[in-house]
Amino acid sequence: MDEWSTVRPVWLKLLSVCLLVRAAGVAGCSSECSCTQFLTNCTGSHLRQLPAGIPFSTQQLILSDNNISILPPLTLNYLDGLLYLDFSSNSLTEISHSSLLNLKILVYLDLSRNQLRRITHLSFRYLTGLVVLKASRNKELNFIDNRAFSTNQKLQELDISDNGLTFIDASMLETLPHLRSVRLSGNPWTCNCSTQYLSNWMRKNRKLVPGRVSIYYMLLSGKSLF
Ligand SMILES: *[C@@H]1O[C@H](CO)[C@@H](O)[C@H](O)[C@H]1NC(C)=O
Ligand SMILES: *[C@@H]1O[C@H](CO)[C@@H](O)[C@H](O)[C@H]1NC(C)=O
Ligand SMILES: *[C@@H]1O[C@H](CO)[C@@H](O)[C@H](O)[C@H]1NC(C)=O
Repeated sequence: MDEWSTVRPVWLKLLSVCLLVRAAGVAGCSSECSCTQFLTNCTGSHLRQLPAGIPFSTQQLILSDNNISILPPLTLNYLDGLLYLDFSSNSLTEISHSSLLNLKILVYLDLSRNQLRRITHLSFRYLTGLVVLKASRNKELNFIDNRAFSTNQKLQELDISDNGLTFIDASMLETLPHLRSVRLSGNPWTCNCSTQYLSNWMRKNRKLVPGRVSIYYMLLSGKSLF
């Protein structure tokens, strides 16, 4: 009894020293990344897949300038405190409907400079807290489903510039009540009866759409509407 009561404090002290050391290094941080309690930064680490160690406490995850081509279903699910995800400059070709399943409080998502081809009605379905979405410079991105943002009612900033879009249904923008900025320039928009609606929307919402957007007539290629 006596022996235990004198031994225990030492043992406890050792344990707390171990815990402190672990905390200083941030438990679970992958060697390719640098981690603080809330930030995991893996910029430019030549990653081809998601790093194994992303600490649970991460709120801001930066994976830009790597070569990650897939975001496997459910792998980010445990990061339910994630607010900010920068996935720019990778080689992602698709977002499966269960890749971003549990990121309900994610506010900022950057998917610029990847190789996305399409955005479906499931791509961002569970991101109900999303405020900023950047998906520019995905040269092969030529399809966005008209329900793509129907659950992202908090969206304020959308950047889909410099993609391969010829057409989007403007009604999907009309239903977003908090939209403040939509970047659409640098796409090969075509002008026909369907895109007439989009150009009308752009005229009406000129202050939301920064920069110059050209909608090319199929025949009079190069003529810009505004
Ligand atoms: C992440 O790391 C990169 C490269 O080391 C650095 O340039 C960048 O500022 C860092 N980002 C943050 C938010 O700390
Ligand atoms: C990226 O990864 C692919 C294979 O997934 C490889 O073919 C390509 O060379 C890599 N690119 C760079 C810049 O490392
Ligand atoms: C207008 O052009 C888009 C993109 O090329 C196409 O998907 C759509 O079907 C066309 N609409 C009409 C009415 O021709």
